[in-house]
Amino acid sequence: MVNLPSQKSTSYTIEDWRRGYESQPNEYDYWIDEVEGEIPDDLNGTFFRNGPGLLDINGQSIAHPFDGDGMICAISLKNGRAHFRNRFVRTEGYMAEKEAGQILYRGVFGTQKPGGWLVNIFDLKSKNIANTNIIYWGDQLLALWEGAEPHRLEPNTLETIGIDYLDGILQPGQAFSAHPRIEKGKDGKGDILVNFSVKPGLSSKITVFEFNSQGKLLKRYSHSIPGFAFLHDMVITPNYCIFFQNPVTLNPLPFLFGLRSAGQCLNFLPNQPTRVILIPRDGSKDMKILETDPCFVFHHANAWEKDGDIYVDSICYESFPEVDPDADFRELDFDSVPEGQLWRFKINLSQ
Ligand SMILES: [Fe+2]
Repeated sequence: MVNLPSQKSTSYTIEDWRRGYESQPNEYDYWIDEVEGEIPDDLNGTFFRNGPGLLDINGQSIAHPFDGDGMICAISLKNGRAHFRNRFVRTEGYMAEKEAGQILYRGVFGTQKPGGWLVNIFDLKSKNIANTNIIYWGDQLLALWEGAEPHRLEPNTLETIGIDYLDGILQPGQAFSAHPRIEKGKDGKGDILVNFSVKPGLSSKITVFEFNSQGKLLKRYSHSIPGFAFLHDMVITPNYCIFFQNPVTLNPLPFLFGLRSAGQCLNFLPNQPTRVILIPRDGSKDMKILETDPCFVFHHANAWEKDGDIYVDSICYESFPEVDPDADFRELDFDSVPEGQLWRFKINLSQ
């Protein structure tokens, strides 16, 4: 593998960072009057974004931005004008906490219910916060969070329709990743959406789904891999779905006893290899597991096949970028966080 050189940007400040993580509890709906330049008349469509919008519940701060409730922004371009609308996804947890005016759920990345460990002990229910990604596929707008099912929204109003099981493909509570990949259609074939679901445990089950452009399921295939797997993203090539199994373990005891969130119970194993998992897209059982130097990967950039080799570009960290449970994410010291670096992996399957 090789490190692809990148430039370190220092254009942001701690004030910019804090500004980006202020709660935005308001919902807006307006035509944008301030436009630089001109919007072409024939450029029509809507750009959807998702992200954590609520970083406190009635003044009770959540502990990590990834625990914030999903808020959808839509910028629509129509006849040379632009319109903005934002709406929170009305998840069960969002509605319950709004009604109660306080934090009712533990978050995966650090948020605890106020009141100490006695209030949190053995509370294992999670809040589907629908905050990570949004896709428009098969005429459906879906807000995604990797720990559970998608929420469907009405594309024009952003009204929440509810949890969506994709025509019965997903079971209640089943995970559906927030990082699907799209394979562009070739030779008259339509685009394909490829996504996955992970059930972690002593061995972890990966299920891959492939949908046609109408949202109909084309293929579903499952594989079990040894050990606990924290899989946030994947990449695809014409023949493979590729996952990186980070060398981490989960010690669930602090989570069970209400002392830490699940995400704070991950431990990086610097002497263990990172495993590269190649799952064939033809549905065969011929899965391959290879090993590379220890690194932690949240996100991949790209993958392709060339002359019998597979190339994967990924953003690697030297170790898991742990968050100090006692630190305030608004006061982040940038220098203390491991830097993501772009690495290129070359995989030779014939060796
Ligand atoms: Fe992500």
